[in-house]
Amino acid sequence: MNRPFKSVRETGKGAAVDNIAFLADGCKEGFFIAINEGVEMKLEQRKDLLGLRDMSREEMELILDTAVPMKDIIKRDIKKVPTLRGKAMVTVFYENSTRTRTSFEIAGKYLSADTVNLAVSTSSVQKGESLRDTIKTIEVMGFDLMVIRHSMSGTPHYVARNTKMRVINAGDGANEHPTQALLDMFSIKENKGTLENLKVVIVGDILHSRVARSNIYGLSKFGCEIRVVGPATLMPPEVEKLGVKSYYSLDQALKGADVVNVLRIQRERQTTGLFPSLDEYSNLYMLSPQRLLQAKDDVLVLHPGPMNRGVEISSVLADSNTAVINEQVTNGVAVRMALLYLMMGGLKDEIAN
Ligand code: CP
Repeated sequence: MNRPFKSVRETGKGAAVDNIAFLADGCKEGFFIAINEGVEMKLEQRKDLLGLRDMSREEMELILDTAVPMKDIIKRDIKKVPTLRGKAMVTVFYENSTRTRTSFEIAGKYLSADTVNLAVSTSSVQKGESLRDTIKTIEVMGFDLMVIRHSMSGTPHYVARNTKMRVINAGDGANEHPTQALLDMFSIKENKGTLENLKVVIVGDILHSRVARSNIYGLSKFGCEIRVVGPATLMPPEVEKLGVKSYYSLDQALKGADVVNVLRIQRERQTTGLFPSLDEYSNLYMLSPQRLLQAKDDVLVLHPGPMNRGVEISSVLADSNTAVINEQVTNGVAVRMALLYLMMGGLKDEIAN
């Protein structure tokens, strides 16, 4: 069979860490080329935003700083600036989404870009149109930027190589979800005043989590101590090679934590039962106010959503002031506005004014 992607082994590119990312998709053969070349480029030189692994701290700071005035726009009565007038963007989601797709769309609208969503489930994809032909069809309509989510790791990278449009990765399999991590970082900085040297716990389904990977790549560049915790069956092999500490005991991991990021159990990516039951899982790993007593008094709780209340997070905690889950969603709009603005043109002073 002619495969659209070369394997890591074939190209010789990509270290063990690449394999960790791809193992999570069950791609033991490594269907994908090494997707990040390890080159740290300046944001204005980037055509695409595919992940945080190769993004420098300075680039992330620029995005987060730009998101601050963007959040002010969202709070205004008239939430519209003309900055991206005449630009066109399309969202193409091969996987379900509430937050990411809608927030990209409204972010584009607030900046006056023309935004279109391709509804994949009712598109010609269902008639057998290939990804490559779909991309070309969209490109020749004149779009400047595509936001894409796909269940296969590496798909946004493949798209980016085959189109003149700018491409933003809105989540690819278990690989990366860079804009989620950026909004998580914005939320942490907004509440803690800094991203420097924090103790950040990521709890749950680390194996299948693109949110975990992007957070690890991003936060580690700010000197954070990152602790991942979950059952052994949901922990990638050799996860410490990503520069994190791994734990199986939630109580141990929570000791002295500044931030806890709670992950959803991704049942759609699990091919076999990786824990005995949801009850068993929640007994050991559900974050609750009682468990949080191990953390610092001013601990901040994040969840990327959607939540399984009573499984990975208690309902009481999710609705408490310790958790900033709804604020994260608002911040997601601001961060995505910042990215669209930085990638499709405009001057920072224009927004500030
Ligand atoms: N956090 C996140 O990606 O949510 P959606 O799947 O709703 O976009």
